[in-house]
Amino acid sequence: MRSSKIIEKIKNMSIEEKVGQLNQIQLEDTKQVRDEIRRGRVGSIILADTATAGNDKQKKINVDLLNELQRIALEESPTGIPLIFGRDVIHGHHIVMPIPLAEAASFNTELLENAYRAVAEEAASDGVHWTFSPMIDISRDPRWGRCIESFGEDPYLTSEMGKAAVCGFQSDDYKSTDSIAACAKHYLGYGAVEGGRDYGKTEISEYTMRNYYLKPFKAVVEENVATVMNSFSEISGQPVASSRYLLYDILKTELGFEGFIISDWASIAKLVNHRVAKDEKEAAMLAANAELDMDMVDRCYIEHLSELVEEGKVSEETIDKMVYRVLYIKDKFGLFENPYTEQKKVNFEKHIAIAKQFSDECMVLLKNNDILPIKHSKRIAVTGPFLHEKRSHLGSWAPDYDAGILKSIQEVFLECEDNDKIVFAELPYLWDDIIPTIRDVDTVVIVLGESAKLSGEDNCLTNIDLPREQLEFAKKIKLLGKKTVGVMCFGRPIALGEAELYFDAILYAWQSGTCAAQSIVDIIYGKVNPSGKLPMTFPRVTGQIPIYYNYPSYFGNGMAYYGDGSNYWDCKSTPMYPFGYGLSYTNFEYSQIRCENYILTLDELKNGETFKVSVIITNTGVRAGKETVQCYVSDRVASMTRPIKELKGFSKVFIEKKACKEIVFELGLEELGFYNRNGEFCVEAGEFDVFIGRDCMTDNKVKITVMNIK
Ligand code: GLC
Repeated sequence: MRSSKIIEKIKNMSIEEKVGQLNQIQLEDTKQVRDEIRRGRVGSIILADTATAGNDKQKKINVDLLNELQRIALEESPTGIPLIFGRDVIHGHHIVMPIPLAEAASFNTELLENAYRAVAEEAASDGVHWTFSPMIDISRDPRWGRCIESFGEDPYLTSEMGKAAVCGFQSDDYKSTDSIAACAKHYLGYGAVEGGRDYGKTEISEYTMRNYYLKPFKAVVEENVATVMNSFSEISGQPVASSRYLLYDILKTELGFEGFIISDWASIAKLVNHRVAKDEKEAAMLAANAELDMDMVDRCYIEHLSELVEEGKVSEETIDKMVYRVLYIKDKFGLFENPYTEQKKVNFEKHIAIAKQFSDECMVLLKNNDILPIKHSKRIAVTGPFLHEKRSHLGSWAPDYDAGILKSIQEVFLECEDNDKIVFAELPYLWDDIIPTIRDVDTVVIVLGESAKLSGEDNCLTNIDLPREQLEFAKKIKLLGKKTVGVMCFGRPIALGEAELYFDAILYAWQSGTCAAQSIVDIIYGKVNPSGKLPMTFPRVTGQIPIYYNYPSYFGNGMAYYGDGSNYWDCKSTPMYPFGYGLSYTNFEYSQIRCENYILTLDELKNGETFKVSVIITNTGVRAGKETVQCYVSDRVASMTRPIKELKGFSKVFIEKKACKEIVFELGLEELGFYNRNGEFCVEAGEFDVFIGRDCMTDNKVKITVMNIK
């Protein structure tokens, strides 16, 4: 239902005033900015004083300045339409949550929603109306630095996390002063850039687009995400920023997206770099005719759209539709009623507690030869290049953090009971200086990692093996005959094929935010039982990339892409660690799968009936713990090649020791269907295998059958 109030307002606007609403500028405390707002040439301001792709600390937001600029827009501009202030509040504001890839490893959507609610409260209190988050690009290539901003390689996991993020940011009361508009990005297929080269080209077929990359966007549109951001990249020769097919036909018409599209940073002007526009005027024409609604900072729209309308190259009707979407979101999020920010007291203690739970639950125990957890009474040594590190625990895109509450791993160790049992082997210039220090200690915790500046936007790597100097350091300590615990503080997955040999235990700590150090030490000493599972496949060596679990079946032994049917002479074809993998300090046993109904007809499925499958999970270990039970589906024979397995459900459950729980999954049309060669969603009759287990390698399965009985 379109708002007559908005339609009436647009009717009374000049073309210049309409175009002004489609113009987003950078925040600058200047007379020129005030004049532009006063003349109705600004619809939005991006609070990115130094939009450094999220790796440098931003200046504190000046809320008084924002309110002053808003007053000019309301009282002195021709239309009196409020500004919408946007910012990259990606995974934290003052209190920083884990990087999104680590958050996905928690497989805890409720926790993510709570965390993003807390983030929204902090950002809204500083005058932010709109965040450019969540990033829901399917990411299969760890060489691409932006995989750390994603929720990993799986469409279902990404969809569930994306929906939780949108609900966290927007809440169910869009007009609340604690809610901020979300932005699903980067539409579409950005994570498929060749070789992991940021901004590069992608080749994505309609079939792959619809069955992988588009699914998370379909999910968040159904969750009423307020805005979408286009990607810098091109799909098979078509830059997304100028693709009416992608932006209008699919996103706005087929998916029914009602919000507005914001261009990624100057990506309209970058159509000239893509060489599909000879100049910025032509770029503006292409983007407007694709109905890319708002222009981020390159001024293509404000400089050229009015003229393009006069020349008949862009219709005023198109402009009206774009302006309607912008005003619709401003109205939906209460900017007309509450345009000004009154800073409120924020419950930071509560937010820190959420951040701690999040970093506890995202860390993944990859290996443990009965060395973890360690008793406080045991004498250990701790060493490594990340022992004193603080900033990189926050990861990329953490521009607003509060440095005061960040702790290093060494500082947290020093706060522990019996800390006199800890030998700090400072990383010396000459590594062998530590030999005497650790000589009489049999267990060494080695803290490794990568700088936050090595991942995120435009930070790609050709080699994701553990850095050579860190590998050699660990190897030397292992060769001393020590028991070694590796703590890995990396954003992206890294290839541990060789490194794994030098560790008796490996804790993948990611870059887990404000409370990362506390969580690492709590897991090492067993105060926290790790429960993270991998949202991306970990290769053995860089050369295995691409390697992801939901690969189509082909000749070989089923899980050929993951299986032992080695395709390489110089490496096993199986990953180092598979999707969904993660250990615990306790042990969970899975029963056989029970199925309530092994056969359904297509018509029954279309009438909403579902297969109900379940397992009993028993905690047979020595302590309580959380387990993410995963449900995968495999279509045995179909009209197109189908992934050998696809995640269709997961449930993270807490189970006391010696207790058990029943987990039930329902599988219906949505879970069994796919988009066929004609782009139609369909379920085909036939046999399917349903798997339920602890990771994607599970062989705990049952067969179900879909019959086509007329
Ligand atoms: C950057 C990023 C995008 C971000 C935007 C605003 O280039 O690609 O994710 O939201 O510009 O900073």
